[in-house]
Amino acid sequence: MQHHRRLWPQIASSEITPEHVYRSRRTFLKLAGISLGAGALAACGAQAATQPQSNTAASATAPVSSLPYGVGTLDELGDAANSVEQITTYNNYYEFSTSKDDVHTLVGAFKTEPWTVTVDGLVGKPQTFDMDDLRTSFDQEERVYRLRCVEGWSMVVPWTGFPLAKLLRAVEPTAAAKYVRFESVMRPEAMPGQNDIFSFQWPYVEALRLDEAMSDLALGVTGLYGKPLPVQNGAPLRLALPWKYGFKSAKAIVKITLTAEQPTTFWNTANAREYGFYGNVNPDVSHPRWSQSSERRIGDMARRRTLKFNGYERSVAALYTNLDLAVNY
Ligand code: MTE
Repeated sequence: MQHHRRLWPQIASSEITPEHVYRSRRTFLKLAGISLGAGALAACGAQAATQPQSNTAASATAPVSSLPYGVGTLDELGDAANSVEQITTYNNYYEFSTSKDDVHTLVGAFKTEPWTVTVDGLVGKPQTFDMDDLRTSFDQEERVYRLRCVEGWSMVVPWTGFPLAKLLRAVEPTAAAKYVRFESVMRPEAMPGQNDIFSFQWPYVEALRLDEAMSDLALGVTGLYGKPLPVQNGAPLRLALPWKYGFKSAKAIVKITLTAEQPTTFWNTANAREYGFYGNVNPDVSHPRWSQSSERRIGDMARRRTLKFNGYERSVAALYTNLDLAVNY
């Protein structure tokens, strides 16, 4: 997601299947096939992933865990979750690298303990939480969500986390609060990408309207495949906003601020024409340099049709009835 112009549409680069994904694909498909029966039975509703599933198939891609997620986990629309290997080795995390394949090799020294998240601004009860507070004060849930990157690739990811609405209610937003700003950690000594101050304005900041943040789909993520969240996926706290392009889901959050004015955001500041404030997945609104009508699921060869709001239209369309989505992209 370089913000500077290129001669060729960048989508071409995301078409190239990284070798490790290609290599793991066959294993993944085989494993998905093994337990598809159990997975398909569990695919009937949002609670599907909470059904215990067998992890007995021995493989590097199968999580060894007594927790519910396993091989054959499906999302609400019946798509198989990507493998742990795929999800943890193909990452957008510009604080570490602009190369998706390299991020996981650079995170080894990054410490996520101790960690606090301050929630402040237009709230009645500003608070600073440590990660144990967040994990114990708010019931952790398991949700299998689609993640659609603005670059034209997608995954299905089994997250663990808590509804963001619960955290926001706990700090009691005032009547003046209209937006929620999420700030990622600033740690240039451990995050090499943050030393590039000419291309980007650090820290990474994202934001939502308060009513979007209160949506039942908005998740504060603490885990992946039933285990603690890996650093490359945004440990110890990130967002999952499955109806929006992935760039809205800030990683390594340290501060959440409720505001009256719409906050400035990282990608919108870098290139407002290419990355809007809303970032809702929309096959009908092209990125200036490529169409958004289709996407490539990591692990698949063929492209698939992109769905409006990434398939979550029923849950979120009501938030946007008075908004021209072509203008507010
Ligand atoms: N958060 C921070 N702090 N820095 C980033 O570079 N990249 C975003 C988002 N959150 C990013 C971030 C983008 S563009 C995407 S697509 C997702 O993280 C990728 O999440 P994943 O690596 O878990 O797939």
